[in-house]
Formats: sequence, C-alpha cells, structure tokens
Amino acid sequence: MPLNQQTECVNAAIGQDQAYGAVTPPLYLSSNYKFPAYGEMGKYDYGRGGNPNRDALAEAITKLETGCGGVITSSGMAAIDLVLNLVPYGGLVLAPHDCYGGTYRLLLSRQEQGRFRVEFINQTSNNASSTIRAKNPDLVFIETPSNPLMRLSDISALSSAAHDIGALAVCDNTFLSPARQTPLTLGADIVLHSTTKFINGHSDVVGGAVVAAREDIAEKLAWWANCTGVTGAPFDSFLTIRGLRTLHARMDVQEKSARQIVKYLRGHPSVKSVHYPDGQLAKKQQSGPGAMLSFELNAQSDTLKYFFANTGIFQFAESLGGTESLICHPATMTHRAMTPEQRNTAGISDTLVRMSVGMEHKDDLFASLTTMILNLQKAD
Ligand SMILES: Cc1ncc(COP(=O)(O)O)c(C=O)c1O
Repeated sequence: MPLNQQTECVNAAIGQDQAYGAVTPPLYLSSNYKFPAYGEMGKYDYGRGGNPNRDALAEAITKLETGCGGVITSSGMAAIDLVLNLVPYGGLVLAPHDCYGGTYRLLLSRQEQGRFRVEFINQTSNNASSTIRAKNPDLVFIETPSNPLMRLSDISALSSAAHDIGALAVCDNTFLSPARQTPLTLGADIVLHSTTKFINGHSDVVGGAVVAAREDIAEKLAWWANCTGVTGAPFDSFLTIRGLRTLHARMDVQEKSARQIVKYLRGHPSVKSVHYPDGQLAKKQQSGPGAMLSFELNAQSDTLKYFFANTGIFQFAESLGGTESLICHPATMTHRAMTPEQRNTAGISDTLVRMSVGMEHKDDLFASLTTMILNLQKAD
C-alpha cells in the first residue's frame, strides 16, 4: 500500500545512509567526487549537476507532487526561469494578469530582451480556456491561488486547453504546497515551488523546485539546470528536507487559525472584502484552503500607516509560509515592481493587506489583529 503523503514527508531520506547507518541524511558539501577508475563514472562527479542532499529533496518533492522527476533550484525565481528555457525562441507565454510581482517582472524582462513574447490574461474568467486556444501559446503559466488576491484558476480546464494546442501547462503551487494541492494530478505538465515558503516553512532558506509529469520534460529541465547552474545548494536542500518533514502538521495548525481569522474578518465593518480560497473551485481542486489570505480595508490609503504602526505578533515583512505570522502591504512591498496601472488592472488596491498565518496561539494572533484594526479606526 502506498504511504500517506504525510508519512512520505516525515520519512523523506530517513534511514538511507549506507556509510554509517545514520537515521537522518548526512550533509554532503563536497563540490566534487572521485571517479572510481579510468573511464568509469560514479553516481556523482560535480556538485552543480548532482548532489545527494539535493537529489533527496528532489525525490521527496517529486513523490509528493506525483511527478516523474524534479530539479531543486536556488530560488523560486530560478525555478520559474528554468522552466522558461522550454519556450522556443520568439514563442508565446500566457500568464495570469495578477501573478506574483517577481514572475511578472521576469516575464516582461525576458520579453524586452527579445527572448519570447508574453501576454497577461485573466485566467479566472469563464472564457480563459477559449482565450488560450485562440492565442495559441507555447506555455501557459498558471498560479493558483494567485498572489495576493487568492483568485483560483481551474487547473484541469486550463491544462486541457493548453494541451489542445500543444502547449505546456505549468503551475506555481507555492501558496498551497502539495499538502493541499497536486496540480500534476489535475493535468498540469510541470509544477513548481518557491520552497522558501511552506515547503521549507521556517523562513531560513531561499529555494525552489520544479517537478515534471513526464520523463522527457524532467530530462530537459535537469539538462538546463546543469547547463545554466541554477541548482540549489546542498545545505539549503538539507535544511529544506528537515522543514518538509513537518509540512502537514504546520499546514494543519496554520490553516485552522487562518479559517478563524477569515471568519472574523468577513462582515467586519472595517473590512471591505476578504480573499480566501475556500469556494466551489477550491473544493474541487484543493484538499484545503491553506494559510494565506488577503483583505481590503475600509479606509483611505493614507491611514494605512496607523494600521501597520503596531503589528504585534505579526512580522511586518514580505514572504510567506513560515511558522511565524507575517503581514504585508502588497502595493508597497511584494508588488511594488508593478506600475500603479498594472496593479489596478490586476485588482491590487492600495488598501489591500496580505497575511501569512503562522503557528502562534490564536489568542495572540487575535490580540494583534484587533489592535491593528483599532488603531486604524482611531485614525479614521
Ligand atoms: C507565488 C510565488 N512564486 C514564486 C516566488 C519566487 O520565489 P523566491 O522568492 O523563492 O525566488 C514567490 C515569492 O514570493 C511567490 O510568492
């Protein structure tokens, strides 16, 4: 019987050491490896192309995402850029108009370079599939839930539209992790992560992962990763696999608090709208809504400084998915690379607040949240 995903996480690379029988995996920092004899190759030769810690992490995430093979990269952006090597010169990439700001910037910069063309479309609209078929791209980049508005795109519908015209469907699964969503089982060809977030989960590593549904795609990705040198460092992989072991336990606790915060914010007079992926489509393609949410404050943007003046237990910082709770202002932080017009088109208003709910006790989370809202009300 296959092991439960939670067990796979806990068990990743456990009890496999051949040298001393170490229960947890040893750290291999060596950049090079001896050749067994003239004309013979061992499993590893040089650290850019292969490393036991990196391979163990790739194997673990590949299993969780039900793929055929994966690559560990030095960051989430490196993971995205690695995948973009599969787009032919002058080809077309379709991406969501409200994707992560760094993804937006990378795609536009590659277009400015003349590498390929990019068009940003609303992938949550009912005619997203027909738009994909009509535009005939080489790669459809999906991000669901989207950052920061938690909008959901239908992974199976978009992947199937991509396949109708021979395009690759690639899904950024950073916000939910394989503990809550497995895009390859919904038809995507490639799933990628910023492992900096929930997979590592302790805000002490920047890393990425790409997993392919097919062997031929996995081989191409591994080739490009070695060729361009975007592979992750051994120690980062060591730490990330350590973080991965508790993914399910962390997600369960963080999601529980996130649900309670959402319940509190929905209908609160100081809150205009709450974005949390728990609707119909979420129930179809996710096994839970996760621990990320955003909300628009019922306030003038110049009073936001009072809201953020004392964030209490919430760290006023970018990033997400760690054990510590984070709060941020997308317009001036994570999405500042976008112009005001681009943010406006994407629906990212100046009063939008994004929250990554951590593992602190809910009473402390609520105490800080109510203080922030009270400070805002006083300013109004
Ligand atoms: C959805 C998403 N994808 C990719 C990235 C990029 O990851 P990294 O910061 O590890 O390069 C981020 C970073 O916040 C993200 O939120």
